[in-house]
Amino acid sequence: MQFDDVILGRRSIRGYKPDPVPKVLIEEILRLAMRAPSSMNTQPWNFYVITGEPLNKIRAGNTERMLAGVPQSREFRTGQPFAGKHRDRQVAVAKQLFGAMGIARDDKEMRQDWVMRGFRQFDAPVCVIVTFDRALEGADDAPFDCGAVATALVNAAWSRGLGAVINSQGIMQSPVVREHAGIADDQIIMKSIALGWPDETFPANAVVSERKAVEEATVFVGFGD
Ligand SMILES: Cc1cc2nc3c(=O)[nH]c(=O)nc-3n(C[C@H](O)[C@H](O)[C@H](O)COP(=O)(O)O)c2cc1C
Repeated sequence: MQFDDVILGRRSIRGYKPDPVPKVLIEEILRLAMRAPSSMNTQPWNFYVITGEPLNKIRAGNTERMLAGVPQSREFRTGQPFAGKHRDRQVAVAKQLFGAMGIARDDKEMRQDWVMRGFRQFDAPVCVIVTFDRALEGADDAPFDCGAVATALVNAAWSRGLGAVINSQGIMQSPVVREHAGIADDQIIMKSIALGWPDETFPANAVVSERKAVEEATVFVGFGD
């Protein structure tokens, strides 16, 4: 695959085949992803790659706690709920996904079902928990670097025919993840990435989300016309 094919073809994948992903392939993808740049080459990221029984325990624990109304316990700062154009974009992609899945606006049961799917890591065969070294806590560089490596990871996965979705849903109940993934005390949990072979028949996998225009995002300075 060419670079453009990967960048333009990649979509978040939320429906997976149950087939396992070979460990050697995951290692190859991580090796590619870790070419991501980082602040002063500190490479603050670490990965817990989980499958099988431990992942099933995380799915069950997340589900149980979310249904019981246990408050979220992410290990990093979260801002205010989205508003204005950010909220508009959040709603727009949700509409695309619900539209593809045939979930009606007032169908509370199906909507709840969809949300719970996220807490189960979309039933993917593999989940990658991205953590960073606690020694760097407080500086925004480390989460930024984790974003860089996560983006590289999902693109590397796509280039090998694997699908992925970076997600917050998997780490909202961080004690569950800590326990079953055996996350070391010197690590802060940043994000999770569901990984596996895309189920081509799963309608939401076909959704191509929108992007604002370059002109909207960019201020060119000193270029003239
Ligand atoms: C930091 C981050 C957190 C995300 N959290 C979730 C999530 O919890 N659940 C989900 O379904 N998708 C999640 N996503 C996926 C985004 O919704 C998706 O990347 C965005 O809508 C753009 O779509 P695309 O990845 O298909 O291009 C997350 C993505 C990022 C980068």
